[in-house]
Amino acid sequence: MDWDAWTQQAWQARERAYAPYSKFSVGAVVVGGGRVFAGANIENLSYGLTLCAERVALGSAVVAGERRIEAVVVVADTDEPISPCGACRQVLAEFGDPLIRLVNRSGHLEFRLSELLPRAKAGILSPPPSPGSAPA
Ligand code: THU
Repeated sequence: MDWDAWTQQAWQARERAYAPYSKFSVGAVVVGGGRVFAGANIENLSYGLTLCAERVALGSAVVAGERRIEAVVVVADTDEPISPCGACRQVLAEFGDPLIRLVNRSGHLEFRLSELLPRAKAGILSPPPSPGSAPA
């Protein structure tokens, strides 16, 4: 667990956020298989199409072949640590139960995803046989 390096990468990614509407920039990294994938929020004139930093980073990880996510860092320049939205929690849960570090300007908090979103996969649909397997 190299939280300091990952946090630095998340702050760097935050510089690339496209947030002209909210003016609230967020950076994230997703770590899987020892590889680190960065993301930042990407907003849109049609507000609901905004992509959160977490999902941007996760998309890169999955397309690179990583389906087992072990850690996530989310950074924002706020007094209180921010917290991933419900949609991001659910999307992350598809690929594991990572530790999530929420970093702000003065400190951090850490949670297991399943603390932030209990029973994410309990319900109607059966999960795929090997959700964590590499692409065919
Ligand atoms: N946002 C993220 O990217 N991640 C979070 O965890 C919280 C919120 C973004 C979405 C939107 O572009 C802006 O922050 C304000 O909500």
